[in-house]
Amino acid sequence: MPHARNLKIGVVGATGMVGAELLRCLEDRRFPVSELLAFSSGAAKKAVRFQGRSVPAPAVDLKALASCDLVFFVSADEVSEEFAPRLAAAGVWVIDDSAAFRLTASVPLVIPEVNAGALSRNSRLIAGPNCTMTGLAVAGSLLHERFKCVAARVASYQAVSGAGRAALEEFFSQSRHHARQHKLEDGRAPIMSLPAHRVLPAPISGNVIPQVGGFDALGNTSEENKVAAELKKIWDAPKLSASVTAVRVPVSRGHSLAAWLEFARPVSVAQARAALKKTPGLVFSENGSYPTPLSAGGKHPVYAGRLRQGAHARELCLWIVSDNLLKGAALNSVQIAEELLRRGWLKRA
Ligand SMILES: NC(=O)c1ccc[n+]([C@@H]2O[C@H](COP(=O)([O-])OP(=O)(O)OC[C@H]3O[C@@H](n4cnc5c(N)ncnc54)[C@H](OP(=O)(O)O)[C@@H]3O)[C@@H](O)[C@H]2O)c1
Repeated sequence: MPHARNLKIGVVGATGMVGAELLRCLEDRRFPVSELLAFSSGAAKKAVRFQGRSVPAPAVDLKALASCDLVFFVSADEVSEEFAPRLAAAGVWVIDDSAAFRLTASVPLVIPEVNAGALSRNSRLIAGPNCTMTGLAVAGSLLHERFKCVAARVASYQAVSGAGRAALEEFFSQSRHHARQHKLEDGRAPIMSLPAHRVLPAPISGNVIPQVGGFDALGNTSEENKVAAELKKIWDAPKLSASVTAVRVPVSRGHSLAAWLEFARPVSVAQARAALKKTPGLVFSENGSYPTPLSAGGKHPVYAGRLRQGAHARELCLWIVSDNLLKGAALNSVQIAEELLRRGWLKRA
C-alpha cells in the first residue's frame, strides 16, 4: 500500500463487540500499526489481544489519545461527543462509529465504495454509517447512479448484536430458557413462556420486535429515522423519499433488508442485474439462490438477491444482507482508514 508507515492507533471501546472485530480487521488486513492504545469504560480491569500480545484497556485518557495518529471510536454516542471533536481539532484523525456526528453537515459520512469523494483532508472527524443502512447504500449505489432512485421503502430484519453485547447476552440467556420448551406437546406447537427482558424492549428469543430505538412524535423509531436520513446523505439525494420499518429478529449477527426501490424512469430486471453485478462491494446472487444472515455472517461484502420487478416498471424489489459488525461498523471504519492511508493523509498536521 503506498504511503504506508507505522501508525499509533487508539481504539475507544476496544473491549466491545465492534471493538473486537475492529482489532481483528486491523490485524487481518495488515494495517500498519506500530502501537495500539485500547480503552474501555474502565468499570472493570480489562485487556484485549492484539498481534499476539495483551494490551490493557483502561478508561479513556484524552492525553494518550491525543498522541495517536488515528483514533477509532466504537463505544457510545456520549463518549464520541465528549472526545472526538477535541481530538480532531488537535489534528488527530478520528473515525467514529457512533451516531453522534453522522448527520452533522461538516462531518463526512463515508462508505468508501459509495462516497469516498466525501473525504476531505481538512475534515479529520469522519463518521461511519448506521449498520442497517449500509447494506442498502452499497447494494443500491450503482442502481441509484444509473437510474436515480427517487423512493426507497425498506423493512429490516436486524440481528441482536446490533444492539450491543448486553442485548446479545440477553438473547442467549432467553434462548437457553426456550430450548427447554422446544418439543411438540401432543402434536401442538408449544406456546413459549415469556422470558425476562431488560435490554431490548420485549423478549427477543422466539419473537420479532417491531421497535429498534425509541419512538418520535410521529411514531417512527430512531433507527428508522437514521436509515432514512443517512441514506439521503450518503447518496447525496436530499429529495429521496424513504420509509422504513425496522424490526429486531432473533439472529446473532447479520442485518437483512427487504427493499422496494423506485426510480425516476423504468428499469428492467436485466438492466438492474447488470448494474448489481458491477456494484463495488456487492456480491449478487441469482437463479434462486439468496443470502441469509447465517451465510453472510462473518463475511466482508454486502450480499443481495431475489431481484424482481416491483409493482410497476419503475420499481425493483431486492433482498440484502450484510454483517452489521463488519461492513456495518468495524470493517467499514478500517476501509476508511485504508483510504486515508492510500491518499497519504495519515500524518499529523
Ligand atoms: N453493534 C453493531 O452492529 C454496531 C454497528 C454500527 C455501529 N455501532 C456502534 O458502535 C459502538 C459500539 O457498539 P458495540 O455493539 O460494540 O457495543 P458493546 O459491545 O456494548 O461495547 C461497547 C464498548 O464501549 C465501551 N464503553 C462503554 N462506556 C464507555 C465509556 N464511558 N468510555 C469508554 N468506553 C466505553 C465498553 O467498555 P466496557 O467493556 O468497559 O463496557 C465497550 O468496549 C456504538 O456506538 C454503536 O452504536 C454498533
